[in-house]
Amino acid sequence: MQKDLLKLLDLSSQDILDILDTADQMKYSQKHGLDHAYLRGKTLAMIFEKNSTRTRVSFEVGMYQLGGHALFLSGKDSQIGRGEPVEDTARVLSRYCDGIMIRTFAQQEVEELARHAAIPVINGLTDFSHPCQVLADLMTIRERLTRLEGLKLAFVGDGNNMANSLIVGGLKCGMDVSVACPEGYDPDERVLAFARGMSGPRFELTRTPAQAVREADVVVTDVWASMGQEEERQQRLRDFSGYCVDEALLSQAKPGCMVQHCLPAHRGEEISAQVFEAHAQEIFEEAENRLHAQKAVMYLLMKG
Ligand code: CP
Ligand code: NVA
Repeated sequence: MQKDLLKLLDLSSQDILDILDTADQMKYSQKHGLDHAYLRGKTLAMIFEKNSTRTRVSFEVGMYQLGGHALFLSGKDSQIGRGEPVEDTARVLSRYCDGIMIRTFAQQEVEELARHAAIPVINGLTDFSHPCQVLADLMTIRERLTRLEGLKLAFVGDGNNMANSLIVGGLKCGMDVSVACPEGYDPDERVLAFARGMSGPRFELTRTPAQAVREADVVVTDVWASMGQEEERQQRLRDFSGYCVDEALLSQAKPGCMVQHCLPAHRGEEISAQVFEAHAQEIFEEAENRLHAQKAVMYLLMKG
């Protein structure tokens, strides 16, 4: 494993599988009341420059369950919001804490933080990627369908942080990945270059949602306007028309296919209320698995 978890592009397929196996063990230990306080006495600093419910709660609860402590640093209230250089924040936190989780806008900021920090840095979402979420998604899919290799994952919607991470994570785990995005909303070029250079699993980018979901085992979607894009919302609602994951679209996928959504969801936009409720069990399992997957990441990076 690397020192940090900054993006799935940095991880080998084996690294991802190791995290998923450890996550399964964490879940088992938690459910069976087995002692797994592996990070006793350790502290995680959590920097949030964007809103969060799941990421904040699952990291904080996860750290507590591992016997450690997590502290919340809001971008607004800390000196980060007043422009203290990221390399100084990195060096200061390295002297108090054992790990840093950061949610922010630019991937560059997370990479720079990691470069200057002596302790592990975990990406809790940037505009470019959401690795912790996709680890939880892969865990949930494997839990339900018993494997990843050879399955088809379809993503319908914006080529955003979720799309970028799902493409990389899915392909690295041997899944075929098909993505449907409107023109102008493609995934990141670096991710497309990785996907096109991949031998083995198949990758497809299409403008037609029905084509992407054809014979899919798992259909994933995410909001059309991500955090920081609120002003583009009206334009995006127009541009994404026809990209709603509804019953009609799902009828093109494999019968009984799974649906995943990282949440929060906008019913009637990227997903219909009917599809959301029909698949609520696996969507909230996915949310729960954030806890177990991140405990695995923290354990593997911070155990020392
Ligand atoms: N899925 C996810 O990251 O949720 P939050 O924004 O609530 O953390
Ligand atoms: N793409 C969304 C994911 C939220 C968890 C966003 O960045 O806002």
